[in-house]
Amino acid sequence: MTTILGIETSCDETAAAVVVDGRDVRSSVVSSQVDLHARFGGVVPEIASRAHVELLTPVMAEALVEAGVGDGDIDAVAATIGPGLIGSLLVGVSAAKALSLVWGVPFVGVNHLEAHLVASFLEEPDLELPLVVLLVSGGHTMLVELQEIGRYRLLGQTIDDAAGEAFDKVARFLGLGYPGGPAIDREAMSGDPEAIRFPRAMMDEGLDFSFSGLKTAVINHVRKHPDVGTADVCASFQQAVVDVLVEKARRAAREVGAKGLALGGGVAANSQLREVFLDVCSEEGVHGFLPSRAMCTDNAAMVAAAGYYVLRDRGETPLDAPADPNLRVALA
Ligand code: KG4
Ligand code: ZN
Repeated sequence: MTTILGIETSCDETAAAVVVDGRDVRSSVVSSQVDLHARFGGVVPEIASRAHVELLTPVMAEALVEAGVGDGDIDAVAATIGPGLIGSLLVGVSAAKALSLVWGVPFVGVNHLEAHLVASFLEEPDLELPLVVLLVSGGHTMLVELQEIGRYRLLGQTIDDAAGEAFDKVARFLGLGYPGGPAIDREAMSGDPEAIRFPRAMMDEGLDFSFSGLKTAVINHVRKHPDVGTADVCASFQQAVVDVLVEKARRAAREVGAKGLALGGGVAANSQLREVFLDVCSEEGVHGFLPSRAMCTDNAAMVAAAGYYVLRDRGETPLDAPADPNLRVALA
């Protein structure tokens, strides 16, 4: 039995979790800093780092108490080592390294994207392989094939903005505040998704994505039609994003002969995407899996789980390994 303390501080969530054998979540504590950043309309890196310094110790303590484990029960400490904001990453990485030294247990540096990729297995251990994951977050939009956990093949990615970034930028333009995704999701519920026909970029070309033209189209439309209803703009924008995401996921699943298709990343919390995604999976005859919303957005349980697989397959991470804001996933 391997009990891992996971730590996540790559952006604006301070999180800690205790997970056994990469599967069994004993505790998962997430402290969101959203309120601290909201009035600035986005994450302010310096504020995020300082908040992580204040929040991480109580968050870790809560995770250990909730899991009912003492210091001596932890077999390894895993922390997100990148990609993310360097000042934020350093808080979690330094804490994890310090605990690893004090407790005499391995330190494991985890790639944040790999953590999102394996998150589904925490809730659905029997996901069938090969699995295609549509990973849609604030910083990344990619389609990845998992031949097995730890062996990833990039099938497609965004050539400009990430899907979450498009949500955040459009919400900001519409004055809906930060974070934009949940705000647009809420507004869209009372709007007509067919009110405005926004472009679906690269719909018929391969598995890459492009969202910056869509963002510009929304801005141009609203400037030209200042009386247009915000709910209709949100619903139509969201529909354009979802149409492209699910169409490309469908094509990716066909191309690799996937048995499973899963969502990951913050945008996977989107109501419309969740609804359409399962329909597409059943049309394609693949096992579709939707992680819970809490598992889609940043958390440390996925970091502890990824840490378990990294430790098992690649061994511990040297204590002099640096945090890397631009870290990539090792793809086959
Ligand atoms: O994975 P995540 O929590 O952090 C990153 O690693 O980026 O993703 C955050 C992103 C933000 O862009 C946020 O606006 C978006 O996920 N998001 C959503 C929803 N909830 C969060 N986008 C659309 N609909 C949502 N319900
Ligand atoms: Zn994330």
